[in-house]
Amino acid sequence: MRKNIIKHALLGLALIGASSVTLADYSADDIAKGKALYLNKKKGNCIACHMIPDADAKLPGNQGPPLLAMKARFPDSTKLRAQIWDATVRNPLSIMPPFGRHWILSEAEIDALIAYLYEY
Ligand code: HEC
Repeated sequence: MRKNIIKHALLGLALIGASSVTLADYSADDIAKGKALYLNKKKGNCIACHMIPDADAKLPGNQGPPLLAMKARFPDSTKLRAQIWDATVRNPLSIMPPFGRHWILSEAEIDALIAYLYEY
């Protein structure tokens, strides 16, 4: 009985995980906006610290980890969003700017970045 409950709970989690990936059907417009922010020195400027395997993202810095295989590593987009919104929640000493908390990026801009990170 208990085993069954655990099995179903796990199946449920797996389905939630799968749906958060399949539902994440981002528009080309959002992906392009996200990319522009990623590269923009006055806005996101993620390129200053993060390498990303996109031919247009030249000369990245390496103070942050490379942003590879984001869909596989962050299947839950709310976790990815939380990291961009305020990196200091996960790491109080983070040098990554808290883009949401400090209003560096709008909510829509953070969404566009997520689209880019998932779909580049
Ligand atoms: C000043 C450097 C810096 C900038 C700019 C920066 N980050 Fe980060 N980022 C980091 C560091 C350092 C980490 C490692 C975790 C930590 O210390 O918070 C990190 C971690 C992350 C992670 C988690 C990666 C993983 O593998 O766990 C994501 C996702 C991320 N950053 C996305 C972004 C995005 C998107 C932007 C642009 C909007 C950005 N970062 C801008 C420094 C930076």
